[in-house]
Amino acid sequence: MAVKILLSEDEMPKQWYNLAPDLPTPMQPPLGPDGNPIGPEMLAPVFPMNLIEQEVSAERWIDIPDEVRALLHKWRPSPLYRAHALEKALGTPARIYYKNESVSPAGSHKPNTAIPQAWYNKQFGIEKLTTETGAGQWGSALSFAGALVGLEVKVYMVRISFDQKPFRKVMMETWGGKCIPSPSDTTEIGRKILAEMPDTPGSLGIAISEAVEAAVTDPTGKTRYSLGSVLNHVMLHQTIIGLETKKQLAKINENKVDVVIGCAGGGSNFAGLAFPFVNDKINGDQIDIIPVEPASCPTMTKAPFAYDFGDTGQMTPLMPMHSLGHKFIPPPIHAGGLRYHGMAPLVSAAIKDGLLNPTSIGQIECYQAAIQFARTEGIIVAPETSHAVASAIREAKKAKEEGKEKVIVFGLSGHGLMDLLGYEKYFANELVDHEMTDDEVAESIKSMEGLPKPQ
Ligand SMILES: Cc1ncc(COP(=O)(O)O)c(C=O)c1O
Repeated sequence: MAVKILLSEDEMPKQWYNLAPDLPTPMQPPLGPDGNPIGPEMLAPVFPMNLIEQEVSAERWIDIPDEVRALLHKWRPSPLYRAHALEKALGTPARIYYKNESVSPAGSHKPNTAIPQAWYNKQFGIEKLTTETGAGQWGSALSFAGALVGLEVKVYMVRISFDQKPFRKVMMETWGGKCIPSPSDTTEIGRKILAEMPDTPGSLGIAISEAVEAAVTDPTGKTRYSLGSVLNHVMLHQTIIGLETKKQLAKINENKVDVVIGCAGGGSNFAGLAFPFVNDKINGDQIDIIPVEPASCPTMTKAPFAYDFGDTGQMTPLMPMHSLGHKFIPPPIHAGGLRYHGMAPLVSAAIKDGLLNPTSIGQIECYQAAIQFARTEGIIVAPETSHAVASAIREAKKAKEEGKEKVIVFGLSGHGLMDLLGYEKYFANELVDHEMTDDEVAESIKSMEGLPKPQ
């Protein structure tokens, strides 16, 4: 029985899949400060035009340039594993598969979009990229991509992660990136927030504001901003995960998938794995597709579908998405990469269309699942990924109760070898579960009062 299902480099997909044209209800446009839809040219100070074209594309398939394919070959195609040992430990009749994105040099799925984003920027004549990072995975991935493609990279890292994960900074520096804690005194918005809240742990929303400000105020005009999740073109680049997975399952004649699971912060690794399966679902297949979020940041399960800013400083356009409000600062749980107030518009639209079944899980169950996974399958997963593992275990137990031979596929978005502090706190019984109450959600979404409402 196969443990790893592999593809050759030639078998790596040659196109990315865009879900937008297949959604039953067309996506609603991003809006400018005046409440009117924004055109591509309004994004030009922030992103290069070749990526903006992908952002607004209505094409179902988009070619992956040969040079990008060659760079992705450094670790792709990534292996699909059958979790024999976990299945045995659970005594489940389910067959569990996981797509292992931790094999990339930066340790997660993030380089799948960092490489093409850096490449398209370079093609457009850009010399420097700014970005934010939560857990440090995205900042590492973009620094890695910058090194390969030949771009300078400046990363604003959420302060709490910066303090908890000092080695992430060293990784970024090793690849030539510059990493500073956010909020910082290098931007106007950072200085304003520091004056109001000197001890803030920071948030992705704040770090995004700083990185966008740093890009658009650079007098050379050769700097752009790069986002590691949320946007349509990021979801697009990540679909290589799901497209490979489908080829791998076909290779072993596993033709019917019952459950697809991914953890979701901004939505990109989930979308990357799930969207090719969402396409099957739109075409009539019965698949339970589950994005999983922390109970302490319940964007999909408790927050409304609304128009909101992507960042705290209100520098981005208004995007139609599930949002806890752009001022939301989540409690400092360890899954730093899942602490975002919003959710990708494409994922939000698919939820609204009834194509996904989002769920939330508390961090203690997630660490228990991650430890069981490490002691059976061997891989120590990232705290973000542990949410997908916990959901897969729940589904496998359900299959056991129902006596059903279900096929469960989940995304192993990254390893946790740089995130051991959370494991240490778990073993020391220092972790607590925090579930956001309805009252807290009601308070948090007040920051969206007065903004236009989607249909
Ligand atoms: C390993 C890992 N998984 C998941 C995420 C969540 O991001 P996204 O929802 O965009 O995949 C992150 C974000 O930092 C991450 O580092």
